[in-house]
Amino acid sequence: MHRDESMNRRSARLAAVLMALLLVTGQAAQASSKSITLPPDGVTLKASDLPGYAKAQAICAACHSAEYMQFQPPNAARPYWEAMVNRMKTVFKAPIDDADIPLIVDYLAQTYGNQRAH
Ligand code: HEC
Repeated sequence: MHRDESMNRRSARLAAVLMALLLVTGQAAQASSKSITLPPDGVTLKASDLPGYAKAQAICAACHSAEYMQFQPPNAARPYWEAMVNRMKTVFKAPIDDADIPLIVDYLAQTYGNQRAH
């Protein structure tokens, strides 16, 4: 009898400890699920009225964020951007129509290059 009682008390204590653990881990899980933040979206292209903007959004953003454009030299002139767009097309098989290249280059030079409005 005495032995059974102490067993019961021990298992009751064990149950209490387990409950406490469950509560703590449950709260921790809840807290972490509340604090989950998505990684920041990739840098997007700067908006522009130029027709090349929509083209660049459709074509260039398919492979990488606009960070790549942002980190080009700000004094980069048109030929630099033209070479870049051509490189994307020939090396990485970017689906760019030849007819769209001047539009995209205009947009890039005026948005990220030396033709920027100051
Ligand atoms: C098919 C995928 C693809 C498309 C579409 C694409 N790129 Fe890229 N681009 C890449 C890859 C891959 C790199 C990384 C190249 C490297 O590390 O050498 C890159 C790198 C760049 C860079 C960084 C400079 C460099 O030489 O690495 C710039 C600027 C850039 N791309 C601009 C553009 C522009 C502008 C367009 C749209 C006209 C475009 N990309 C479309 C795949 C693409």
